[in-house]
Amino acid sequence: MNPVLETIHSRTSLRRYKDTAIRDDDLQTILDATLRAPTAGNMMLYSILTIKDQAVKITLSKTCDNQPFIARAPLVLVFLADYQRWFDYYRLSDVEDLREPDVGDLLLAIDDALIAAQTAVLAAESLGIGTCYIGDIMENYEAHRELLGLPDYVFPAAMLTLGYYPDNYEPKFRNRYDQEYIVHNEKYRHLNDAELKAMFASLEKEFSPNNKFGAKNMGQFTYARKTGSEFAREMSRSIRAALENWQGRQAEKQ
Ligand SMILES: Cc1cc2nc3c(=O)[nH]c(=O)nc-3n(C[C@H](O)[C@H](O)[C@H](O)COP(=O)(O)O)c2cc1C
Repeated sequence: MNPVLETIHSRTSLRRYKDTAIRDDDLQTILDATLRAPTAGNMMLYSILTIKDQAVKITLSKTCDNQPFIARAPLVLVFLADYQRWFDYYRLSDVEDLREPDVGDLLLAIDDALIAAQTAVLAAESLGIGTCYIGDIMENYEAHRELLGLPDYVFPAAMLTLGYYPDNYEPKFRNRYDQEYIVHNEKYRHLNDAELKAMFASLEKEFSPNNKFGAKNMGQFTYARKTGSEFAREMSRSIRAALENWQGRQAEKQ
């Protein structure tokens, strides 16, 4: 394997870190690589927040679904979908009939932010720095807006915790679903019941009937733990609040 593929294949999410600050030169290397990520129209519709302040990390560890390891990460990066910068520049440039950023602009900016985030993940990994995504940064929109000082047209799309690997760390490689269910040729293939059962067969082997949700099978268990959970509901509420902000302003102008 070449070094790029080796980095991709050796990465796992890291939630335990060496108690050492990220060196400035390593952070700079990660940021330099990240800013080379492809970006829609070369507009760089994202911003990156570097967070080292312990008090802020502690707050994030609570607001992001109570995950204490966030506070123990030496560095946190928040990837922001950012249309504010261009909107302000358009205003400064006296653009005529200037429309407010809308949902399409938001989604494009989220694409940009996520592509940058994954570039940072691989750059960090290549330097012996492990990472973990925190999707819960999309929850509690109002609190995160206040905490991070986000203007109207900036949305926190993803967060990463970063830290050097602890000594003697044994990575745990989590299984992926078989490629035949994930990669479709030329046209989307809507899986039938038999294919779904085959796809999830290995997951179903892990099912325990004595689970805290009273779930009777793996589908019920996963729904209770993920899609039907409090955090998933809060994420949708939070994103609706952010969307109301963007769309509300759009409606006001029409
Ligand atoms: C969008 C996204 C959000 C995630 N959010 C969290 C999180 O809040 N907490 C956490 O511990 N891991 C989180 N993860 C990490 C996943 O749990 C992890 O990638 C997955 O279990 C596969 O494991 P691996 O990365 O070690 O291969 C997230 C990953 C992604 C891509």
